[in-house]
Amino acid sequence: MSDVDTLDHVSRVEAGDAGTVEIGLVGEAQMGQLFSIFSDVVARGDGFPQQPPLTRSVFEDVWASPVTLVAGAMRQGELVGAYYLKPNLPGMGSHIANAGYVVDRRYRGRGLGRLLVEDSIGRAPLAGFDAIQFNFVFGDNPARALYEDLGWQVVGKVPDGIAPGRDAIIYWRAVP
Ligand SMILES: CC(C)(COP(=O)(O)OP(=O)(O)OC[C@H]1O[C@@H](n2cnc3c(N)ncnc32)[C@H](O)[C@@H]1OP(=O)(O)O)[C@@H](O)C(=O)NCCC(=O)NCCS
Repeated sequence: MSDVDTLDHVSRVEAGDAGTVEIGLVGEAQMGQLFSIFSDVVARGDGFPQQPPLTRSVFEDVWASPVTLVAGAMRQGELVGAYYLKPNLPGMGSHIANAGYVVDRRYRGRGLGRLLVEDSIGRAPLAGFDAIQFNFVFGDNPARALYEDLGWQVVGKVPDGIAPGRDAIIYWRAVP
């Protein structure tokens, strides 16, 4: 599990044959790389609802504003995966984070996604959140196994939320 103890903590971890990666906060300098990873995710309809082609403005709605933090995995100076945390709702709902995770397609299946989700569980309380909720997980997304393994509970289902015959699942877990 994550050893994050300050908001700007950087962890150095081994990610299978991806080698050593550093997980920490992502700044402006990595936003171009993140745009490219997220463009590919959106183009393939891979777990996020945005319509392709990804525009800068839609990218910023997801990853820049209103986002509390973006953290990511750097490998040899290259961003290979990232997640955001932001308030799930304003006011009374703002103690709960919403999060979204992406890993560069070339580096999937090596444990990076698990490392990022674990990191978010450690970093979210340091940003003032006491839970993380996912509002729109594709019912057929293999990432569901990861979320359930790491303690998320299904708290709702939106019938046909994604498309006819494809439900959206709502997940919640307290953090840490
Ligand atoms: C979801 C995502 C971040 C996972 O990243 P990853 O680096 O491939 O994940 P990992 O290698 O750490 O795999 C972790 C677990 O996820 C599950 N998993 C992820 N992708 C899977 C796949 N294609 N098939 C089967 N299981 C998969 C497995 O349960 C795996 O378990 P394990 O740790 O016991 O092997 C990545 O697939 C991705 O960017 N997908 C597109 C965007 C997306 O769907 N984000 C989530 C939106 S809700």
